[in-house]
Amino acid sequence: MKTPKRLQPLVDEGLIDEVVRPLMSGKEADVYIVRCGDDVRCAKIYKEADKRSFKKAVEYREGRKGRNSRRARAMEKGSNYGRQEQEQAWQNAEVDALFRLAYAGVRVPKPYGCFDGVLLMELVTDDAGYVAPRLNDISLTAEMATAHHYQVMKDVQRMLCAGLIHGDLSEFNVLLDDKGPVIIDLPQAVDAAANNNAKRMLLRDVNNMTQYYGQFAPLLLKTKYAQEMWLKFESGELSPESELTGEFVESEHTADINAVLEEIQAAFEEEQERKERIKDAAEEDEY
Ligand SMILES: Nc1ncnc2c1ncn2[C@@H]1O[C@H](COP(=O)(O)OP(=O)(O)OP(=O)(O)O)[C@@H](O)[C@H]1O
Ligand SMILES: [Mg+2]
Repeated sequence: MKTPKRLQPLVDEGLIDEVVRPLMSGKEADVYIVRCGDDVRCAKIYKEADKRSFKKAVEYREGRKGRNSRRARAMEKGSNYGRQEQEQAWQNAEVDALFRLAYAGVRVPKPYGCFDGVLLMELVTDDAGYVAPRLNDISLTAEMATAHHYQVMKDVQRMLCAGLIHGDLSEFNVLLDDKGPVIIDLPQAVDAAANNNAKRMLLRDVNNMTQYYGQFAPLLLKTKYAQEMWLKFESGELSPESELTGEFVESEHTADINAVLEEIQAAFEEEQERKERIKDAAEEDEY
C-alpha cells in the first residue's frame, strides 16, 4: 500500500521495508502491519496530543521523571519546549515499559524501538500467522478462563516487581495467542512506588481482568489478588516467585480496639491488686 506520511521517515531510514496494511485505528494511535526484512511487525503511530482522547494524563504522569532537570522544569511549566518534551516522554514511556517488562518475563510484544513517534514491535499472531484477537472478541471455557486469569495475575505480579502498573488493563488491551494472554498498550504505565494512585490503579486493573474472566468462570469473582499483591509489595515481600492464593483477609483493626480495651482493664485490675497487697502488708506491719 501507499506509505502513510508518518511512516515515510522509517522507510527512508530502512527500518521498514514495506507497509502491508492498516490494522486498527484506536483512540490514541493508528496501528499498521509492516514488513521488516523477513519479519512481519506492527507499527503504532501515536496521535498528536490534541487528537488523543486521553483525559487523565496528569493522574498517570505523577512520579514520572524527566530525564534531566531542565526537561523536568519545562514539562512542569508547560512551555512549548515543555510540551514537546512531554510528548516525547509519553511516546517513550511505552517502549521503555515494553523493554522493562519483556526483560522481567511478562508476555508483551517484543519491542524494536520508538522512532519519530512510531513504536515498532512484534505483531502478535497465532501459530498460523493470523493476527491475535483481543479478549473482548472471544469467549472461553471455564477451564481456559481460570488458567488464563492466573497467567494474567502472574504477569501483573511480575510487572509490579519490575516497578510498573499497567493503568489501563482490560479485555481491550490483552491479546490471545496460542500460548495465552499477551498484554499490550502501555503508554500510561505508572510507577508503582512513586505514584499516589498506584494502589487504586492496581485494584482497577486486576478487577477489570477478574470481571472479564469471571463471566466464564464465576468462582474467580471471589479472588482478591490485587489486595494480596499490594500488601506484600508495600512490605517489600513481593517477588516474582511469591506464591499468591487470591485470598485476602481484611485487616482486623476494628476488632483490635476491643483487645486494647481489655488490655487496659487487665492492667488496671492488676494495679488495684498490687495496691491492695501493699495496703495489706502495711496493715500487717502495724500489728
Ligand atoms: N503488537 C500487536 N500485535 C497485534 N495487534 C496489535 C498489537 N498492538 C496493537 N494491536 C492492535 O491494535 C489495537 C490498538 O492498539 P493499542 O491498544 O496499543 O492502541 P490504542 O490506540 O491505545 O487503542 P485503544 O485506544 O483502542 O485502546 C489493539 O486493540 C490491537 O487489536
Ligand atoms: Mg488499546
